Amino acid sequence: MQSKAFSLDRPCRLVILISGRGSNMQSIFKSVAAAAQRAEIVAVLSNNPDAEGLAWAQAQGLAVETLSHRTFPNRIAFDQALQARIDAHRPDYVLLAGFMRILTEGFVQHFAGRLINIHPSLLPAFPGLNTHQQALDAGVQQHGCTIHFVTPTLDHGPIIAQGLVPVLADDDAESLGQRVLAVEHEVYPQVVNWLIDGRVQLEAGRVSVSGPASRLYVDFSAASEADVPLRRQA
Ligand code: GRF
Repeated sequence: MQSKAFSLDRPCRLVILISGRGSNMQSIFKSVAAAAQRAEIVAVLSNNPDAEGLAWAQAQGLAVETLSHRTFPNRIAFDQALQARIDAHRPDYVLLAGFMRILTEGFVQHFAGRLINIHPSLLPAFPGLNTHQQALDAGVQQHGCTIHFVTPTLDHGPIIAQGLVPVLADDDAESLGQRVLAVEHEVYPQVVNWLIDGRVQLEAGRVSVSGPASRLYVDFSAASEADVPLRRQA
């Protein structure tokens, strides 16, 4: 898997895949709209015809398509059909934004270096579902989200950026999840901006971003003074 920094003489073409609410899609949409002429969301695709985010995308005038996995005999058949639908839009990047499907190796290899995911934990910790509860159960003091290139292993792959929130003493999965989501909405659009500006390079499994780039976003806004980490005294 390799992805070189590049410069396009046309708008960068983005396809977004969703399965539900689509709040990350919305945050990407807003930042792409602000990136005047440098990028275009050429399609929003969902495996779930009832995904809430579809109506929002349609209302923005985006091209929306659904392809229900339930109408396919198996995972490979669905992924092949989805791949063909995506290819028809000739994307530079395919952005998974709450796309709740395990992807087959063939699909992932086909889009290698162009397939990006957001996961609500600080990977490699807590892949899979219920990440906020997993974090609370493990007693970690920091949690967050990860934007990464997708590899065939679930919730795994070269990390582009992470957003970190402290876990607070009275957190439950919902309160923690809300703060992580707010950070997701900061970090994913930032990464997409780097992608459309051709600043992200992937070589030998390591990511680099050219120019000034804060690849760790930290949100202490909800923390009290007691929650802010101690600094080592000089
Ligand atoms: C987000 O927490 C994302 O990290 C995870 O699924 C959730 C999707 O939320 N993969 P939304 O659909 O973007 O609102």
